Amino acid sequence: MEYEAVLREKLTEKRYVHSIEVSKAAVRLARRYGADVEKARIAGLLHDVMKDAGGDAQLQIIENSGTILTNVERSSQKLWHGIAGAIYVRDVLGIDDPAIFDAIRYHTTGRAGMSLLEKVVFVADYTSDDRDYEDAQVVREIAKESLEKAIVEGIAFTVTDLIRRDRTVAPDTIDAYNESLLALQAQAEKEKRE
Ligand SMILES: [Fe+2]
Ligand SMILES: [Fe+2]
Repeated sequence: MEYEAVLREKLTEKRYVHSIEVSKAAVRLARRYGADVEKARIAGLLHDVMKDAGGDAQLQIIENSGTILTNVERSSQKLWHGIAGAIYVRDVLGIDDPAIFDAIRYHTTGRAGMSLLEKVVFVADYTSDDRDYEDAQVVREIAKESLEKAIVEGIAFTVTDLIRRDRTVAPDTIDAYNESLLALQAQAEKEKRE
């Protein structure tokens, strides 16, 4: 498959394996929740395509495209690869699909108003089979039951970790957290009333 050859060239072995696993996890979640399976497969496969390219190359592709970073985005190099990756996939690989663009663009931070495909790729990234952090298995089980719950759990973990390490937290991430939490609470209220 041609995209896998691109990944082989651009990624370390570990990241290549991660990309394959995220693609598989995204397909599983897409089937379960009714997102576009083929788009989930492609976005999952390519979400980290720029991750091993280095900060300079990431910034260059972002700046060449005319994208302006916020102060928080600029302060955190970890956030560059999603933005650069989305641009690379569109402009270099020629996959001109706004849904795939956004799924890659926001896979690290999330945002308010994520599409179903964005949520699928966001959650697939931290529930894929190669992930081995302490609660990985717990979050995997949660993701089978509710995407919103998996988003809240995943972001709670990430934000706590960022704050402990004196790192900035992207407002998009907080927006995604609040929105998913409110959706869960509204759903719980509704179930109580029924
Ligand atoms: Fe990533
Ligand atoms: Fe990833």
